Amino acid sequence: MVAFPFIFFVYPSLSSPHPILKTALENDINDNSKIMKKLILSLTFLFVVRLAFAVEGMWLPLLLGLLNEAEMQSLGMKMTAEDIYSVNKGSLKDAIVQFGGGCTAEIISGQGLLLTNHHCGFGSIQQHSSLEHNYLEDGFWAKTLKDELPNEGLTVTFISRIEDVTAVALAGVTDDMDKRLRQSTIDKNLEGFKSSAKKEAYEDIMIRPFFNGNQYFMFVTVTYKDIRLVGAPPSSIGKFGADTDNWVWPRHTGDFSMFRIYADKNNLPAEYSPDNVPMKPKHFLPISLDGVAEGDFTLVFGFPGRTNEYLPSYAIEQLADVLDPARVMVRDKTLAIWDGAMRADAQVKIQYASKQAGLANAWKKWQGEVLGLHKTGAVAKKQQYETDFKKLVAINPKFAKYQNLLPQFEQLYKDITPYAEAKAYYDEILGSNVEILRLAGRFANLLKAYDKNGAPGMADEIRDLKPWLSGFYKNYRPEIDQRVFAAQMEVLVKKLGKDFQSATLNQMLANANGNYDKLAENMFSNAIIIDSAAVFTMFDKPMDEIMRLVVEQPICQLVINLRDVYTKNITPKYNEYNDQIDNLQATYMRAQMEVFTNKKFYPDANSTMRCSYGQVQGYHPQDAVTYAAQTYLDGVMEKYVPGDYEFDVPARIRELYDKKDYGQYGENGKMPVCFLGSNHTTGGNSGSPAIDANGNLIGLNFDRVWEGTMSDYNYDPSICRNIMVDARYVLFLVDKYAGATRLIKEMKLVHPKKGTPTPPAPKKEKGAKPTMKAQSGSLRPEKLEKE
Ligand code: ARG
Ligand code: GLU
Repeated sequence: MVAFPFIFFVYPSLSSPHPILKTALENDINDNSKIMKKLILSLTFLFVVRLAFAVEGMWLPLLLGLLNEAEMQSLGMKMTAEDIYSVNKGSLKDAIVQFGGGCTAEIISGQGLLLTNHHCGFGSIQQHSSLEHNYLEDGFWAKTLKDELPNEGLTVTFISRIEDVTAVALAGVTDDMDKRLRQSTIDKNLEGFKSSAKKEAYEDIMIRPFFNGNQYFMFVTVTYKDIRLVGAPPSSIGKFGADTDNWVWPRHTGDFSMFRIYADKNNLPAEYSPDNVPMKPKHFLPISLDGVAEGDFTLVFGFPGRTNEYLPSYAIEQLADVLDPARVMVRDKTLAIWDGAMRADAQVKIQYASKQAGLANAWKKWQGEVLGLHKTGAVAKKQQYETDFKKLVAINPKFAKYQNLLPQFEQLYKDITPYAEAKAYYDEILGSNVEILRLAGRFANLLKAYDKNGAPGMADEIRDLKPWLSGFYKNYRPEIDQRVFAAQMEVLVKKLGKDFQSATLNQMLANANGNYDKLAENMFSNAIIIDSAAVFTMFDKPMDEIMRLVVEQPICQLVINLRDVYTKNITPKYNEYNDQIDNLQATYMRAQMEVFTNKKFYPDANSTMRCSYGQVQGYHPQDAVTYAAQTYLDGVMEKYVPGDYEFDVPARIRELYDKKDYGQYGENGKMPVCFLGSNHTTGGNSGSPAIDANGNLIGLNFDRVWEGTMSDYNYDPSICRNIMVDARYVLFLVDKYAGATRLIKEMKLVHPKKGTPTPPAPKKEKGAKPTMKAQSGSLRPEKLEKE
C-alpha cells in the first residue's frame, strides 16, 4: 500500500504549517479523517477570509462535508453537505443524471421530467427531423405524454452512492512496482471487490481512478433506458448565435431541451415499451422565480468530462504550440466546406447539423484555449511552479526521489511530440473529418474478420455493420465529402514527415498527376461503398465475391495502408512514450501533493459526479472592459438579423418582446436570458443545473467564456467563468412562447427570495434505503405558486 495521506485534498494556505497540520504531516497517521475534521474546522476561518472568490475545483459530493461545506456556506449557501449528497435520504444528487454519456441533466418534476441543453438533445432532435417535420428548425412540443418521442440508445444514469475504495484497490501495491504489475494488482483487487460489493439487481458498479491512480472511488449507478423527447425550442432560440457566439460572452442562447424518464410499473429501468410510465424520482429540483444577483451563491452539479490541471509546462507547450493548432487547421478546412453546403441546401443543413456542431464546437474551443494559454502566460506560470517545486525538493532529503521528475518529463515530451503530432493529424482526418475514410475503415474490418474467422466471421461482421451503415447513409453526401477528402489528403501529404507518409497515398496522387481534386475524383467515382443501394445489393453475394469487390476499391486500399502506417509507424512509439509519461505523471501528482503543503488539490475531472461552487459574477476580459453578469432579451433583439443563419429571431419572440409580455418570469420589465458564474466547469457539465443557496434551480449550465476555455489546463479565477441560461428564460419559453402549460403545471415554481414558500431542503426519510421506489412528502410537485 502506498503510504500517502490522500485524505489531504486541501492543503490550507499558511506560511508556516498550522500545528495540527504539522502533526498530520509529520506523524504517520492512521486515523486521517478525525484529524482532518479538526484541521478543517480550525482552518475554516482562514479559508473564508482568503478564498472568498477562489472557487477553483470540481469536488466529490461525498467529501463536501469534510472539505467544502464551511467554505460553501461562507459564500452564501444555506444547505448542509448532507442536503446535497446523502445515502440515507433523498438529496440533491438524486435529481442529477448523466445524460446520454456526455452531458448532464436534472429532474424538474415528480414525473421524471428532465431538463438539459438543446445541444445535448441535439442528436435526438435531429434524428426525429425531416423536411416535413423539421424540429431543428421549428422546435418540438409534445402535446401529451403519448406524443413524447422515444430515442433508441439514449440513457440516463443516476448515482446511488459513492465509496472510497482506495485501500482495497491499492492493497499490495508498492512504489517500486512497474506499471503493468501495478495495474494487474489493482485490477485483481477490484475484480474481487466488485463481485462481492453490495448492490441491487438493477444497479451497476463502476470504479474509477483519481489523482492519476493514487486514489479510487466506487460509484453504484442506476441507468434508465426509455428516455423520451418532450420539448425543444427552434434552433433560432436553442442555438441562437450558433458558432459566432459559441464560447463567447455576452450570450443570448436559450440552450435547453426537455426529456422524460420512463420506467416500468415498479419504477425501475426498462427497455422502451409503450406500457412504461413516467418515472417517479426520489428528488426533483424546484425552480426559483426570483432570479439571481451578482454575488449570489451558485452550485453547479454534474458530470465534468476531462481536465488536466496538474501537467508539467512541457505538456502545455505541446498542446498550445503543436496539437491544438494542428487540429484546428484540419477542421478549418472541413468546416469551410460543410458550412457552405449547409447554407446552400436545407436538406444538407439537417443531415450535417449534428456532425457540424460537434466538429465546430471543439474547433472553436481549441482556438480559445491557445489564446487563453498564451494570454495568461500559462507556460511561464507552470515554469515558475516547477522552479518552486525543484527548490522544495532540493532542500528536503525525503523528496530526493523526485529530483529527476521534471528533466525526465522534458525529455519524454521532446521524444513524443512528433508522434503525438502525427497521431493528431491521423485521428482528426481518419476519425472525424473525412467521412469516406471512416466508412472504408468499416469495410476494411470485414476483410479482417474474413482473415480471422473466414466466411462465417465476415457474415457476422456484415450483420453488425448493416444498422451502422443505414445511419451513416442517411446523413451522408458524397459530393461534399469528396471535397473534404481532397483538402485533407493535401494536409496528410504536406504536413507529415516522411516516416508518417502513406506510400499508397503518394502513389495514387502521382497517378492523378499531383492533383488533389483529380485524386478525389478517382477515389469517389470508383467507390461502391458510398452508394447505399449498391452496398446492400453487394451484401447478397457470396462472401468471396464481397471480399473481392471490397479489396478492389481504391479507397479501401488507401485506408488499409493509412491504418498500417498508423499502427506500425506512429502508435507503437507513441504508446511507449505515453505509458512512461502516464507513470511519471502519477508520481508527479503524488509529489505535488506532498511538496506543496500550501496548495489546494482536487481531482481532475473524469466524467464522475462533481460539485463546483461559486457566485454569480462578471469579469474584466481586458483593460477598460467589464462584463456584466446578466443578459436580457434586449440583447437578443440587438443581435437580431432578419432571416440570418445564426441570428434570426422567431416572430413570436419579437411579438412578446414588443408587448413586454413576460408573465411572472420578467424582472422590472425586462426578460433575463443568461448569466455568468465563477463555477469551475468543463465539457460534460453541459445541462448541469445551477442551484441556489437553498437547493432551487436558477439556471442551466451550457458554456464557458472565450478568455477562460483554457481552464481545463490552467484555471484562472480572474477570467474563468461558466455561462448559464436563466431558469426564468426557460420557463418563459416553455410557457409564453411554446404554450406548453402542461409542463409548467408539473413543475414546482418557488420564490425563495421574496419569502413565499421556500422549498425545504430535501426531507429526511429516516432510515430510508436508497431504493428506486418513489418517495412521497415534500418531494411531490406542489401547486403552482402564483406571484
Ligand atoms: N460550447 C458549448 C459546449 O461546449 C455549446 C456547444 C453547442 N453550441 C454550438 N454552437 N455548437 O458544448
Ligand atoms: N458546452 C459544454 C458541454 O457540452 C460545456 C461547456 C464547457 O466545456 O464548459 O459540456
